[in-house]
Amino acid sequence: MSTPMGATTELAGFVHTFVPASGDARTLLLLHGTGGNEHDLVPLGQALAPGAGLLSPRGQILENGMPRFFRRLADGVFDMDDLVDRTHRLADFVLAARERYGLAAGPMTAVGFSNGANVAASMLLLRPEILSAALLLRAMVPLEPDELPDLSGVPVLIAGGRTDTMIPQDQTERLAALLSRAKANVTVHWSPAGHGLDGSDLEAGRAWLASDAAAPA
Ligand code: MLT
Repeated sequence: MSTPMGATTELAGFVHTFVPASGDARTLLLLHGTGGNEHDLVPLGQALAPGAGLLSPRGQILENGMPRFFRRLADGVFDMDDLVDRTHRLADFVLAARERYGLAAGPMTAVGFSNGANVAASMLLLRPEILSAALLLRAMVPLEPDELPDLSGVPVLIAGGRTDTMIPQDQTERLAALLSRAKANVTVHWSPAGHGLDGSDLEAGRAWLASDAAAPA
């Protein structure tokens, strides 16, 4: 079943938009930051990997009217039960979307920004079967599972901002170390920017996605 290009619809509890691929077999799972929605990252996805399919859900939580993918108790302090629950719901949404849009077992690469990057990192750690690769823009350590998954062969690019006041640099480094311990193939890009993205993030993301480094094993 197909939907009109970019139409917003609901599936497995997630309002989302889906843009079918036109050339690239890969689907980008676009995960917005706090206060974003399903439309926010579509231009970024198109710029990062022209022709890729785009699957872009809206976070289910509202914080003062701002969509998020999981609840937080304060800046950088997460409601862990909710994080775990919402991570599984998002993973189940991806499985349902694979079926709905006929994506079969094609590669699914997360592109997450801030809160979206954190839920993507959580999905790598809790549901390692869902993502083939992940581009984590301004991410922190969402949780540390008792047992690490085996992420062998899963490429991950983490893009941190040297002057980010929301995500301390050691969070970026700790996340890289955690995912490396799980055997993911981790690359870190440092942008001179703050929490917002700049041209170097786009360039690094584009080059990484086009390279063999981002190709799922
Ligand atoms: C955000 O505002 O999205 C934070 O930096 C990260 C988060 O709360 O997940």
